[in-house]
Amino acid sequence: MLNIRSEEEIGLIRESNLLVSKTLAEVARWIRPGITTLELDRIAEQFIRDHGAEPGFKGYNGYPNTLCTSVNSEVVHGIPSSYELKEGDVVSVDCGVFWNGYYGDTAYTFEVGKVSEEVKKLLRITREALMKGIEQAVAGRRVGDISFAVQHHAESAGYSVVRELVGHGLGTKLHEPPEVPNYGNRGQGVKLRKGLVICIEPMINMGKKHILGAKDGWTIRTADNLPSAHFELAVAVDEKKADVLSTFRFIEEALEQKNK
Ligand code: MF3
Ligand code: CO
Ligand code: CO
Repeated sequence: MLNIRSEEEIGLIRESNLLVSKTLAEVARWIRPGITTLELDRIAEQFIRDHGAEPGFKGYNGYPNTLCTSVNSEVVHGIPSSYELKEGDVVSVDCGVFWNGYYGDTAYTFEVGKVSEEVKKLLRITREALMKGIEQAVAGRRVGDISFAVQHHAESAGYSVVRELVGHGLGTKLHEPPEVPNYGNRGQGVKLRKGLVICIEPMINMGKKHILGAKDGWTIRTADNLPSAHFELAVAVDEKKADVLSTFRFIEEALEQKNK
């Protein structure tokens, strides 16, 4: 069964997602060659706790940290470590919070210093694919409409879609039904209703779609070692247009400040 949220509940889920969005903006201010992914994790955890909330991922199925930091060919669920980011890397930073009983969950792939045009394009197309998916998150459409839109945009650019990991419902649990795959067919899957809150999170590979799991039990990487990108936003399905509950706006403002 799908959880259909009231206006009030959606307000609370929005608050949690705005806090995640602001946490990612704080991370954005610190991202540079030489910083370790564990330092970013500490900064995010402190920021979340300073705002009276709890990290949403820490302890989830035993996950050890506040962020998932996935570098270059790592797709998702990279564990923060003593790895120092270096010029030309891209790092997907996925963050969750739990606040007032509701989860926020949002991810952004950052460029570290100067990144190749090829990789920049991968990030742009992945982000556009997310936006194409969000356009379909309207009452009366089906999950497959979102999936198809994401897949079509990514594959039209010559990229491939990771199959094993999917978007999901979000609310009092980090992962709720329905699953929201990034590949599929129009008109298929469950019907979207006003008040359903979902995370749409394309994971798009420059090369082939195949992935491998690491020995740490968490990190997912591309089998061909080519780069992967990941962007995630939480949205509430609405009648005419999705109500986007998290935002990249704070991140963008932080990046603009930094590049001045
Ligand atoms: N944030 C991931 C998602 O977008 C899930 C992370 S689970 C964790 O769904 F345990 F790794 F934190
Ligand atoms: Co996430
Ligand atoms: Co998610």
